[in-house]
Amino acid sequence: MEKDQMHFETKVMHIGHEPDPCTGSIATPIYQTSTFVFPNVDEGAARFRGEREGYIYTRLGNPTVAALERCVSALEGAEKGLAFASGMAAISALFLAILKSGDHVIADRCIYGSTYTFLAATLTRFGVEVDFVDCSDIDQVAASLKPNTRVIYFETPANPMMKMVDMEAVARLAKPRGIITVVDNTFMSPYFQRPLKWGIDVVIHSATKYLGGHGDVLGGLIVGPAELVDLVRTTAQKDVGGIMSPFDAWLILRGIKTLAVRMERHEKNAMQVAEFLEKHPAVQRVYYPGLPSHPQYAIGKKQMTGFGGMMSFELKGGFEAGRTLMNSVKLCHLAVSLGETSTLIEHPASMTHSVLTPEERQAAGISEGLVRLSVGLEHPDDIIADLQQGLAKLL
Ligand SMILES: Cc1ncc(COP(=O)(O)O)c(C=O)c1O
Repeated sequence: MEKDQMHFETKVMHIGHEPDPCTGSIATPIYQTSTFVFPNVDEGAARFRGEREGYIYTRLGNPTVAALERCVSALEGAEKGLAFASGMAAISALFLAILKSGDHVIADRCIYGSTYTFLAATLTRFGVEVDFVDCSDIDQVAASLKPNTRVIYFETPANPMMKMVDMEAVARLAKPRGIITVVDNTFMSPYFQRPLKWGIDVVIHSATKYLGGHGDVLGGLIVGPAELVDLVRTTAQKDVGGIMSPFDAWLILRGIKTLAVRMERHEKNAMQVAEFLEKHPAVQRVYYPGLPSHPQYAIGKKQMTGFGGMMSFELKGGFEAGRTLMNSVKLCHLAVSLGETSTLIEHPASMTHSVLTPEERQAAGISEGLVRLSVGLEHPDDIIADLQQGLAKLL
């Protein structure tokens, strides 16, 4: 069967997981090596000149890492992929490779904290202009365009309110102007959302989350057009060196084999948890893309094939209620990160966003009683029972 004709559930197990041609090993071998021996000097020279395929040194490419890159680019429907030591290594390398002093970036205001600081504090030191806007308001994006705009960057759904951006609308604005659109697809994974289908140029993943899926590894990927991915490989990745280790690539490849079944269950559990929370008297509001009450439910339905396992909810009792709930849960783990087998809960006002003043948090739309939940793969009744006993303390 041609690989591009396979269903998603088949691709996760057969692309990048081909039996080893040397030994027949069904598991992808871990090529735990720093360098590769050339058979002779002419072959080594030809590889260095890029005239012949073949490995040179693991910072420049490694067969286990390449298997993961093939797998994720196929799942996203991209030409090529490139793996990194973490999501942030992928994001920073992409920007370093494609931007120069004098370029302008439009980024959504609501993006992962380190992506925000990399853009706002680091890139601006090198003469890159950055405007933060609400990309879900296409008029704001249009009004921010400049002749030197080179990149539009956003997450959808975005942390922590699960705000969604119409990818097709942004791509329609960017394409004729030659602007590169980049979407961080960490929250949905390619199982529920494939941004390239909507005209987006490049997809980013923190593979630490749903792709790895088991909370035991960090990793990042970019996938997109071959020319652009090769540019990142031969510049920012080669010279800055934030590459993924072969063992980490193997762990993530192993995790991806069950991506489809895990995502289905994350979503099924999340839907039940969201419906429970929406009816609870201590809860003011639930933000889950799968609830018709979500302000952008229609956009989510258009561009996603499911709603994932991430949600947030506001407690009526504010900051203290958030603290009480965090200290009361017994099954849900009090931890940041997301997309792993266990349910993780966190309180942005006292944890991830505690460096901001209450006023700054309010401006970012993060209320004092907001709680973020990454719904895991436990039995949904057990997750709900744990939340129920914790929420009972707030009544
Ligand atoms: C949406 C999103 N993008 C990127 C990152 C950064 O990924 P990493 O921690 O693998 O560097 C995170 C981390 O939480 C994230 O949530």
